[in-house]
Amino acid sequence: MDAARDKLIVALDVDSAHRALDLFDALRETVGMFKIGSQLFTAAGPEMVRQIIARGGRVFLDLKFHDIPNTVAAAGIEATRLGVSIFNVHASGGAEMMTRTAEAVAEIATREALARPKVIAVTLLTSLDQTSLEQIGINDEPRSVVTRLARSAADCGLDGVVASPHEIDFIRQTVSSPEFLIVTPGIRSGNEATDDQRRTLTAAEAIRAGADYLVVGRPILNADDPVDAAKRISAEIEDALLLLNQRS
Ligand code: C5P
Repeated sequence: MDAARDKLIVALDVDSAHRALDLFDALRETVGMFKIGSQLFTAAGPEMVRQIIARGGRVFLDLKFHDIPNTVAAAGIEATRLGVSIFNVHASGGAEMMTRTAEAVAEIATREALARPKVIAVTLLTSLDQTSLEQIGINDEPRSVVTRLARSAADCGLDGVVASPHEIDFIRQTVSSPEFLIVTPGIRSGNEATDDQRRTLTAAEAIRAGADYLVVGRPILNADDPVDAAKRISAEIEDALLLLNQRS
């Protein structure tokens, strides 16, 4: 169960520290990491991150930094000091931004004897389709943009990417290192609403496709019993991992 638990990240997409901590307390036995994104961070700030880490939780800080290299590298240093396990940047911020951030994080972690967080890149937001790309002057199809940006993230020394479940396969073909992390939102296990996620996979399908971590929000947060929903997803991950291990 531990291997499955470690792969499951719950998106704490709620509006207050109080709700987030209630969810954390309920889910901590079943879930390996908690994602704090723009909504909760804006509502509750870095203190929210500190509180979850102080209670023994691991945090993926999903603020998708996108700014000039100096600013993103400095934000990366603060994320390292906060003690997050993963944080992310937009690959479209450019190679210099990614390289300088990866270097600054490694350097501060060594200098201040801190754990080095994994730095991962958002390639293309899954909400952007061909038409929205054309509107911002990109005429390539989404798949080639994702491939190009994933390769660039790997070349700049980043640890992985956030990717839709349907992109896992061609990212693995593009970046050969098995260490390159793929963190996958857009998980829906059959009968619940897809919400605004356009292309989804089940947890088992995403694991079989090669995802390292699954990010799940509404299927757990909106369930009548969030703990039960998380347990069911974790069991699904465990079964998929068993099958994979039997094959290898
Ligand atoms: O509720 P749901 O399971 O769709 O939540 C998915 C989470 O992953 C949300 O916090 C969303 O911001 C995030 N995410 C995503 N698609 C991306 C990047 C992040 O859904 N491409």
